[in-house]
Amino acid sequence: MLDALDAASPHRAAHYEDALLRLRGLLDGEDDWTAAMATVSCELHHAFAYFHWTGFYRAVTQDLLIVGPYQGGHGCLRIPFDQGVCGAAARTRTTQRVADVEAFSGHIACSSTTQSELVVPILRPDGTVLAVLDVDSDLPDVFTDVDQRALETLAARLGVQFGC
Ligand code: SME
Repeated sequence: MLDALDAASPHRAAHYEDALLRLRGLLDGEDDWTAAMATVSCELHHAFAYFHWTGFYRAVTQDLLIVGPYQGGHGCLRIPFDQGVCGAAARTRTTQRVADVEAFSGHIACSSTTQSELVVPILRPDGTVLAVLDVDSDLPDVFTDVDQRALETLAARLGVQFGC
């Protein structure tokens, strides 16, 4: 497991490269989606000190998410596609990067300490939503293009490997 990187570190991009490389090795040849989600949640959560909730919501239909493996405090169990940041990511199939969750209309506050959030949809090769990857932070406006690009790269890979 990688040491946790602080938000102020200038090495964020390199740390993601290491984390994604480790995950590639860990998931090589794996075909169990639950095992993969659990492993990704654990590795990312412990690799970045500014993540306080890291995990997945699974699209059980194309209008409902149910919580999957995660690390951190209690996550809410069900999120319709028309609610919350996670729902918006699933509904629009685009990444939602929220600098200030209080300013996001409809944000679902699973934890009162959450200040910023990054949610990346994971799409199957046929374009349907497999899940969303949600990372939350207690720090305001902490997620950057570096976080977004790295998690989108990971999400694209997961969608191909586990979305068939
Ligand atoms: N904040 C999310 C809900 C999930 S949790 O924060 C773990 C949302 O608005 O969709």
